[in-house]
Amino acid sequence: MKLIIKPINISFKPLEKQDIDDVLAIECLAYSAPWNKAKFVGSLGNKQTLTVLILLKGKIIGYAIALRSIDSADLLNLCIHPKNQHQGLGSQLFLNLVTQLKEFDIDSVILEVRQSNKAARSFYQKNGFELIDTRKKYYADGEDAKILCFQINK
Ligand SMILES: CC(C)(COP(=O)(O)OP(=O)(O)OC[C@H]1O[C@@H](n2cnc3c(N)ncnc32)[C@H](O)[C@@H]1OP(=O)(O)O)[C@@H](O)C(=O)NCCC(=O)NCCS
Repeated sequence: MKLIIKPINISFKPLEKQDIDDVLAIECLAYSAPWNKAKFVGSLGNKQTLTVLILLKGKIIGYAIALRSIDSADLLNLCIHPKNQHQGLGSQLFLNLVTQLKEFDIDSVILEVRQSNKAARSFYQKNGFELIDTRKKYYADGEDAKILCFQINK
């Protein structure tokens, strides 16, 4: 049975330096090849980076990190704590990110996802992304990447 999370329990805020250890703990649980601390710190140091944390009852349970260019954004990371996945929270996080990207006049969101990451590919398809390319052996372990694009309706 799917858990229904009451919207009242959910909040959003930007990622700040003091949140990085909490985010890193989720990152290490959720990915086989997680980002390291330096990568999060580096992202924060870039003015083109847009970050959103999703909190459940005040506790960080997920995050999104996007890099803006003129009219498009690369979604670099989108992650929900494994304990909280498949409850609609990733979709709410993505919606919040898109709302913020609209304010910067961003038209599209592009990302790459591992071919084997069935849950994420299904998630992105459900949230309106379309496959635009395949990059062979994109990842260090030789896995292909699927390149997906989302058009933002203004
Ligand atoms: C991808 C991710 C962010 C989705 O967040 P989420 O909160 O679980 O997703 P939601 O509950 O909002 O969306 C549900 C949809 O996502 C897909 N999905 C999510 N979890 C899934 C799972 N375990 N197995 C299959 N599909 C899954 C399904 O399409 C699902 O739709 P359904 O409810 O009709 O089956 C989350 O699974 C995650 O953090 N994964 C690990 C990190 C990762 O791979 N990030 C993407 C890198 S490109």
